[in-house]
Amino acid sequence: MPDTVTARACANIALVKYWGKRDALQNLPSAGSLSLTLAALSTETTVTYDDALEHDILELDGVVASPADLGRTSAFLDLVRSATGVGIRARVTSRNEFPTASGLASSASGYAALALAATRAAGLTLTERQLSILARRGSGSAARSVFGGFARMRTGSTSEEAYAEPVASPLLDRIRMVVAVVGGGTTKTHASRDAMEHTAATSPFYNAWLELVPRDLEAAEAALAAGDLEALGHIAEANALAMHASAMTARPAIFYWQPTTLALHNEVRGLRACGLAAWATMDAGPHVKVITNDEDAPTLAMRLKDIEGVTAVTISAAGPPASVVDTVSPISIVSLG
Ligand code: DP6
Repeated sequence: MPDTVTARACANIALVKYWGKRDALQNLPSAGSLSLTLAALSTETTVTYDDALEHDILELDGVVASPADLGRTSAFLDLVRSATGVGIRARVTSRNEFPTASGLASSASGYAALALAATRAAGLTLTERQLSILARRGSGSAARSVFGGFARMRTGSTSEEAYAEPVASPLLDRIRMVVAVVGGGTTKTHASRDAMEHTAATSPFYNAWLELVPRDLEAAEAALAAGDLEALGHIAEANALAMHASAMTARPAIFYWQPTTLALHNEVRGLRACGLAAWATMDAGPHVKVITNDEDAPTLAMRLKDIEGVTAVTISAAGPPASVVDTVSPISIVSLG
């Protein structure tokens, strides 16, 4: 000790969304979800435990993190420390390889990479399932980023049963997402954590949302098994709109849509009417992610980047599972010297 471990994880975009918790302390979701991990959006995180430190240190994209981000990371590291019995503080540096200034959510890739780096640096090797459970405690969507490709999150009746697992599909090689960034990420949005809680507490449509999710999950998994991109796309688009309908009808309303967001949806619907594979999904922000295939992705990207207010467009294939990219132990440092 201290060992330094660097891990990488990719963000994921939900095809059937996670939107609400049944237990905030354990971070247990109210319903299942289904996602695609994206190769083009990754986070690399390095953790070093150092007994000279009096408190944890967190640097995000080269900048000292805010007290709020540090507090959430420290609380997460406490889970690792209590599991290993190692009380030492850590230095954490994390870097996102996302489209420039995208403002896209990075908590999924961030907590998946942190869970892996923090446990390995503490000398603990978890199974993928254990890692998914741990990552969930940091951020619900992070449980899915432990896996590559498609991943399904289970609700489970206990914390030990609420984990993600990979889902096989013949669509894996040819599915693409075209990520259209709206407004350069400068638009202020409600963080998903607070927004889902507020929606659950105040939207008259929230119960309808909860009833819908198991049906969408079943249909989406059947589409994945059958390799039916069209069926999957329709379910994903409708599911995202239902999530946003619940947020918009919260009181006061949570409205993520910008004029450019609507223009993107219109373009996607128009291109779909012309025969292209294109279905839109959105998360807790104004950006639009278009589900498509390898053949149509370049045409879509070209059309979407010309829409006013779109500041970046990225095509992504399915991404790999979280992995350790580098380990430096004191012994190897000595032998190098
Ligand atoms: C809209 O995973 O960020 O992206 O568990 O509170 O950290 P916490 O929430 P988070 O929520 C993600 C919400 C979403 C949909 C999804 O990814 O399933």
